[in-house]
Amino acid sequence: MKVKDVLKQKGPEVFSIYEEKTVADAIKMFTHNNIGLLIVLSLEAKVVGTISERDIIRKLATDPEGCLTAKVKDVMTKQVLVVEPEDDLEYAEQIMTQNRCRHLPVIQNDVLVGLISIGDIIKFQLKESQTENKYLKSYVAGGRA
Ligand SMILES: NC(=O)c1ccc[n+]([C@@H]2O[C@H](COP(=O)([O-])OP(=O)(O)OC[C@H]3O[C@@H](n4cnc5c(N)ncnc54)[C@H](O)[C@@H]3O)[C@@H](O)[C@H]2O)c1
Repeated sequence: MKVKDVLKQKGPEVFSIYEEKTVADAIKMFTHNNIGLLIVLSLEAKVVGTISERDIIRKLATDPEGCLTAKVKDVMTKQVLVVEPEDDLEYAEQIMTQNRCRHLPVIQNDVLVGLISIGDIIKFQLKESQTENKYLKSYVAGGRA
């Protein structure tokens, strides 16, 4: 199973925000789109980081008064961990587990082609195991006939 298999099921859409926007803007986008992370872009549309619910919680813990008006670029995570479509799913899971991150942008030839979350992986694996179970059940039933 590959990253591209999960992306195929989930779709290529990626939600992003400009680095100059505020944390309040990011929260609106989280709520509106029912997501927990945004890709952060510079004005030149270059990926410069990610901002997650957890980044905002960290800011809230240290600066509750300034949190909502803080700029995304001052709260975001600058080190962006990525995967490629041909990477094994196990590799993506390893990166998520080792780095305690729940989302991974998918990059192909330096171009952002999607984003997968821990929820997407679980959903995909659940579907795979349900298909496998169905196949095994019909195989066993067929064997009894
Ligand atoms: N991922 C799912 O399809 C799904 C379905 C039902 C319930 N849940 C539950 O919701 C919780 C969190 O889910 P999650 O881990 O998927 O995280 P999430 O809530 O951040 O993501 C929800 C969906 O939005 C997508 N998404 C998030 N940020 C995005 C972005 N910037 N651009 C494009 N797509 C983006 C994810 O890939 C996922 O498909 C978990 O408890 C999970 O079990 C997830």
